[in-house]
Amino acid sequence: MIRGEKIRDVLARGGPREGVTICGWARSMRESKAVGFLVLSDGSTFATMQVVVNSDLPNFAEVFRAGTGAAFSVTGNIVASPGQGQEWELHATAIEVVGSSEPSFPLQKKRHTREYLRTIAHLRLRSNLFGAVFRVRNAAAYAIHKFFQEQGFMWVHTPIITCSDAEGAGEMFRVTTLDLDKLPRKEDGAIDFTRDFFGSSAGLTVSGQLQAEVFAQAFTDVYTFGPTFRAENSNTARHASEFWMIEPEMAFADLQDDVRLAEAFMKSITSFVLNGCGEDLAFFDQWVEKGLVARLEKLANASFEVLTYTEAVAILERSGEAFEFAPSWGMDLQTEHERYLAEKKVGGPVFVIDYPAKSKAFYMKRNDDGKTVAALDLLVPQVGEIIGGSQREHRLDVLKERMAQFGLSEEEYWWYLDLRRFGTTPHAGFGLGFERTVMYLTGVANIRDVVPFPRTPGNADF
Ligand code: 4AD
Ligand code: MG
Repeated sequence: MIRGEKIRDVLARGGPREGVTICGWARSMRESKAVGFLVLSDGSTFATMQVVVNSDLPNFAEVFRAGTGAAFSVTGNIVASPGQGQEWELHATAIEVVGSSEPSFPLQKKRHTREYLRTIAHLRLRSNLFGAVFRVRNAAAYAIHKFFQEQGFMWVHTPIITCSDAEGAGEMFRVTTLDLDKLPRKEDGAIDFTRDFFGSSAGLTVSGQLQAEVFAQAFTDVYTFGPTFRAENSNTARHASEFWMIEPEMAFADLQDDVRLAEAFMKSITSFVLNGCGEDLAFFDQWVEKGLVARLEKLANASFEVLTYTEAVAILERSGEAFEFAPSWGMDLQTEHERYLAEKKVGGPVFVIDYPAKSKAFYMKRNDDGKTVAALDLLVPQVGEIIGGSQREHRLDVLKERMAQFGLSEEEYWWYLDLRRFGTTPHAGFGLGFERTVMYLTGVANIRDVVPFPRTPGNADF
């Protein structure tokens, strides 16, 4: 079939020009006796192509019977449009109805709620909003690889099935082929996972960090970019059970290096999307979050503030805000606290570093005060925590102590401990939640609307 040109390229090249073919789906159509109009989208750009159809076209009636949502291939001439809203239009000389659309096509002109659109995740992509979201998501993914590749980081593909819980938080989905009705038991009644497919209890990874650390101890600077899974039963606008994470890991690096990398990284992605997704961002700015573009431009040029956890808690205690959870040293910062710091206190991105050792994962480097670890979180307006990271504990004896405190077995993590035996280095990294990044870049407030097919508690449709 003649695949034609992408609408994005046709509009960029302009006209007048003859013999141009485009393929796409009708967003809308209207006809009168003499002439009809099709508005086509092919997803390549926010803009649509207005197709002008003269009623002397032999299959004029067939074209306008095909229905909103139908797929067309149109050949014609690009000419300056006298109408409002578009510079160029396509005067059809031939139209093929590739696939007609039934009258029940749900994306007719009226506006729909996001909740309704989630129930038609297979069709919502053809709306303005979701077209823009997934183009930005694609651009951000490209920007992330570009940033790391240009900085000399190697992309490493860490496993999705694993026997180690990297965060030690017990939020792994189990992977098993055991017969759930006839579970093999050990003498003490516990399930005998030696009889399971992998010979031990396995699950879906919550983070590729531990394996990324292995690679950093050979390739110095590496990053992961892939799916991660968490069986946490939090039904919020910011949590998904399946999400993508980017996890850079650097050998010969401390927390300061980590902060510098995270800042440069966030600015780089933001600038790339600002430069490449102008029309999509303009749409979000108008319909989703007023002032979005200014907010992103500010981020791209800001220098990020750094607060210690201890300073942050003091600020929260003095704030006079009526928080649901009263802040006090030692507690986990709640979303309301994170948003207060980023939105009201700083008015932009802010790093909080050096968290209480008890509230953070076992692998984080213990600070000399004995109470805190060299952790960092990056908090941003609207979203709260977007990055979590740390310098890792590289001293074998201290790491063993921390693992004992967390009740983790040395046998299970033997290979992780080996890294501290054979050429250990101070090293550091972080994890950026990809969906939270897309939320941040688009202003879209619910994670379900930036994931192609969201998986959340109670829902894995499509
Ligand atoms: O803070 P987290 O749990 O850190 C880690 O997993 C470390 N291993 C990262 C590292 O140092 N290599 O998660 C990192 C980020 C969070 O800041 C958040 O943006 C995102 O992952 N995230 C989620 N995003 C969507 N849904 C969830 N349920 C998420 N949990 C974490
Ligand atoms: Mg975190």
